[in-house]
Amino acid sequence: MIPSLDASLLAASPWWRPDPGTHLVIRGGARLTGTYPISGAKNAALPLMVAALLSPHLVTLHNLPANLDVAVLANLLQRLGVGLGWSGGRAGLTLTLCADRLHPRRIEGALVGRMRASILLLGAMLARCGEASLPMPGGDAIGLRGIDFHVAGLRAMGAEIDLAGGMIQARAPRGLHGAEILLPQPSVGATQNLMLAAVLARGGTVIRNAAREPEIADLARCLIAMGAGITGLDGDLLTVQGGASLTGAVHSVMPDRIETGTLACAAAVTDGELFLEHARAELLGAGMPLLAAAGVALEETGTGLVARRASAGLIGTDFRTMPYPGFATDLQSPVMAMLATARGASAITETIFEQRFRHVDELRKLGADITVHGRTAWVRGVTRLTGARVTATDLRAAAALVLAGLGARGETALDGLEHLDRGYDGMAEKLAACGADIRREARA
Ligand code: EPU
Repeated sequence: MIPSLDASLLAASPWWRPDPGTHLVIRGGARLTGTYPISGAKNAALPLMVAALLSPHLVTLHNLPANLDVAVLANLLQRLGVGLGWSGGRAGLTLTLCADRLHPRRIEGALVGRMRASILLLGAMLARCGEASLPMPGGDAIGLRGIDFHVAGLRAMGAEIDLAGGMIQARAPRGLHGAEILLPQPSVGATQNLMLAAVLARGGTVIRNAAREPEIADLARCLIAMGAGITGLDGDLLTVQGGASLTGAVHSVMPDRIETGTLACAAAVTDGELFLEHARAELLGAGMPLLAAAGVALEETGTGLVARRASAGLIGTDFRTMPYPGFATDLQSPVMAMLATARGASAITETIFEQRFRHVDELRKLGADITVHGRTAWVRGVTRLTGARVTATDLRAAAALVLAGLGARGETALDGLEHLDRGYDGMAEKLAACGADIRREARA
């Protein structure tokens, strides 16, 4: 559960206006049409912001999404001594970070508890300051989400790490050194953390079985622009030449592939047509053929993707989530919401996070016919969902429930909006601009 926001904590991000006590009311049935601008990717933006810690020079990030996780991380960085300059508006923020005077102070629990990506501060602070002290990271309650790969990799690079009392205390009194690291599983966060640490370490680092999510290549591209030597961006073997003396850089955050897939489903669910501006098909990996098989037609233009329901309609489709380029776990719940009204049945297997079916009970409140057996959810398509009061339990569950509400008959009231706001930049407002009947209202 995300604690309610203390607005003073978010002073670093003046565009963010927390709005507690509201829920989202969706009257389903409207066809979505028009242009939906896809924002910069949350999961690329967060590690890029942490990368700025590695250099005393200015790092400017364009196309940052205006979401709560970005605001919270900005606040954490500011507490570590990073100077921040914001410009732009909710549609595409620019943030300039200056980490010329860092204080490696203990990072507090309440903020870190909100965000898994805070674990990336461990590698970056160790590399830059030789020490780091932070609570075990939080984030969505979607599984165990250990940090053993992060810790083992950093220990192999010479860090002394102590885990006790819910805190991570780390030191590298003699600095970090390069290492050969084999990840037991291609972890996105561990790959990013070790890459960040390796850039300033003495000597070269090899990361085998590295995750290949496009957000990792986006981070690597920014680090390379800052002067780092990194190769292997297209595969699962990354090499980092350490000891770089980094400069500043200007980098634009890649478009959000999860928002892209989610909104493609929204177009199909409402039998509308959306132009997903800035979206890039190649970032969807296995999502492209899977969405096509399920009845979502996607057409590339030079500047985005046009999404609509294929003429044959939505068709039940089996899939399993996998590391990239496999089908993204972050799209599992939105696609399940779409398939809830497809013709026929779908078997959906979640292989990345063991508790990522918490949206199923909520979809059932809307009339979906879904049963879960172990790691597989069996979805039998129904003709129509019916609006109800539902609660988001995590970020992607929130997006799934918005989709379900858009297609449902009658009114859906969605609680737990802090989850939606964590990861999406103005989703309700952008949907309303495309014809959805959706509004934030004070909870009765
Ligand atoms: N794992 C461990 N030990 C570790 C690290 C990971 O056991 O030290 C396990 C995890 O428990 C999980 C698997 O390895 O079962 C993969 O986890 P990974 O480390 O790849 O995930 P993450 O870095 O914590 C990021 C995204 C998630 C996204 C996953 C998978 C960010 C901030 N988060 O998490 O995004 O689902 O990769 O693609 O980038 C979301 O945006 O909604 C979200 C949860």
